[in-house]
Amino acid sequence: MATSKGELVLVTGAAGRTGRACIAALLRQGTPIRALVRRPEAAADLQKLGVAETLLGDLTDADLWDEATRGVTRVLHICPPMHPQETDLAKGLIDASKRTGVKQFVLYSVLHPSIDVPHHRRKLVAEEYLINSGLPYTILQPGRYMAHLLPIWRAVLETGVHAMPFSVTSKFSLVHLDDLGAAAALVLQGDAHHFATYQLAGPQALSMTQCAATIADVLGRDIRADHIPLDVFLERARAAGANEQRLNVMKVMNLHYDHHGLVGNPNVLRWLLGRDLKTYKDYVEDLADQSAARPN
Ligand SMILES: NC(=O)c1ccc[n+]([C@@H]2O[C@H](COP(=O)([O-])OP(=O)(O)OC[C@H]3O[C@@H](n4cnc5c(N)ncnc54)[C@H](OP(=O)(O)O)[C@@H]3O)[C@@H](O)[C@H]2O)c1
Repeated sequence: MATSKGELVLVTGAAGRTGRACIAALLRQGTPIRALVRRPEAAADLQKLGVAETLLGDLTDADLWDEATRGVTRVLHICPPMHPQETDLAKGLIDASKRTGVKQFVLYSVLHPSIDVPHHRRKLVAEEYLINSGLPYTILQPGRYMAHLLPIWRAVLETGVHAMPFSVTSKFSLVHLDDLGAAAALVLQGDAHHFATYQLAGPQALSMTQCAATIADVLGRDIRADHIPLDVFLERARAAGANEQRLNVMKVMNLHYDHHGLVGNPNVLRWLLGRDLKTYKDYVEDLADQSAARPN
């Protein structure tokens, strides 16, 4: 059942990579969107894509929460990553949604929110608050994105090294943002996904070594995986402007990844979408084509 015409959906974090993937899928199914963004340029950009309404503001501004949720039927809450007030922002929006008569609250959480990593735990508390809120809800728990390759793609091409701050053998159920956007848009229709919590993991559990081998295969040249020492990585992040709170979250998260990776099961995402999931090779081929990096 499609979202009825006029059933406006509020999307927070709308201008980010997750927000854009979800908005693209929502627009494809004809869902009218109110996008919460903090920069006028981002608002103009989303309007060009077909977003019906944009609301400018900072999510930490409690005065904005009622305004953001008033008149919308459903909320897709995508918190800015590693935000120190993540739990409070979710609670504020959930309370506002109850006051303003929202019919479904979709919380964009994370795979395994119970692990001992700060932003996972903040999402876990937000999940608990939502479940106890009485609002019809859907909780999405996505795995690590394939798209983490994008910011280092140029460096991979230039150096022939795919480097991240964890073991080259740790495994991750890497997932494509197109599949996550499609799943988010799907659960924002009708009431079939009310009171559900869905683990959204990618189709294969891959190590950095296996990712590098896939890139090498697509590019037709040697690419190797390398473990950047965590202190070197954190110093680079500090130099790039990351604050102490964020550096600490990055440290704990990457130590967890180093020891355990982040693996889930792809069945639920496959079942939701009713098709095979996009593979890491699909993702790399697209990236290589976009940057004309593939051999002819
Ligand atoms: N990365 C992964 O592998 C992964 C996996 C599972 C779950 N997640 C979760 O996905 C969520 C979104 O991540 P993402 O990678 O899409 O983030 P992103 O690309 O960094 O986008 C975040 C967006 O939030 C906006 N924003 C930041 N602070 C704000 C504030 N105070 N008020 C209003 N807007 C604000 C940013 O605005 P500007 O455009 O102005 O910067 C940006 O558009 C996070 O909660 C993350 O934990 C990520």
